[in-house]
Amino acid sequence: MQGNIIQWFPGHMAQTRRAIKENLGSVDIVFELLDARIPHSSRNPEIRALLGEKKTVVILNKEDLADPKTTSLWMERFAREGCGAVALDSKSGKGIQEVLSEAKKLLKDKIRRDRERGMTRPIRAMVVGIPNVGKSTLINRFAGSKKAQAENRPGVTKQKQWVKAGTELELLDMPGVLWPKFEDPATGEHLAMTGAIKDSILLSEEIACSLCGRLAAIAPEKLMARYKLTPTELDAEPYDIFCAIGRKRGLLIGGGEINEERCAAMLLEEFRSGKIGRITLEEP
Ligand code: G4P
Repeated sequence: MQGNIIQWFPGHMAQTRRAIKENLGSVDIVFELLDARIPHSSRNPEIRALLGEKKTVVILNKEDLADPKTTSLWMERFAREGCGAVALDSKSGKGIQEVLSEAKKLLKDKIRRDRERGMTRPIRAMVVGIPNVGKSTLINRFAGSKKAQAENRPGVTKQKQWVKAGTELELLDMPGVLWPKFEDPATGEHLAMTGAIKDSILLSEEIACSLCGRLAAIAPEKLMARYKLTPTELDAEPYDIFCAIGRKRGLLIGGGEINEERCAAMLLEEFRSGKIGRITLEEP
């Protein structure tokens, strides 16, 4: 798993690192987007190291897909670390005002100083985060129109762009990609389960089976309810749970065997779109 993922992302890493470094001086604050379902795995330690002491609002995006209680725990944890922390659903815009309020709170001294000098200018924020975490969606939500181009192909470098978001905010969409380097194979798995890493480059069936095992452990009621599993079916090895789900959905090929490819695609789609429920894979 881990090897595959690292190989698949040839990396504009150096270029992206340079771009972040070069532009850090011209922003007041950083909006660091994480996926609320996997705050740990979607946080790139390299980005963190580059940001240094720059004030940061950690945005737990896709909160609509995550377990609200666990999201609160993560927010407390980031607040303890001195970051602003906000839970956001960029798709609907729920939480968007809190992002701005949190930025203003962190920058209150600077805003006061500016005011004393008779200066009022928008807060300049750099938006960073791994691919597919929702950067374009957030920027579009702030800007109120389709300003940033959603780009899903990993490895594609976009042009740096400033986007005005009303009178109070300007957002810098950083080009390039920065995948986390990871030692723990669970990180790669979590990125794959949530769809951060596209299926074309990984073994969906393997991931779907692992997902069955994880969901049976952390959200058994939701898994049982969605696929009408019996306790005995749930209390089995991940592959057997996977097969039980395939049978329930009638995803069979000749001879009563499971169509593993379709079953995996169905399971991953239903998990990623929240149909199984709001589930967070990582606890603080
Ligand atoms: P990026 O710029 O960081 O690469 O991410 P982008 O905004 O392109 O978002 C990646 C996917 O995540 C998109 O889905 C987007 O709609 C979805 N998304 C972003 N924010 C949220 C959120 O807060 N909640 C939920 N549920 N989804 C979110 P897609 O399937 O690739 O495209 P689309 O068909 O939804 O437009």
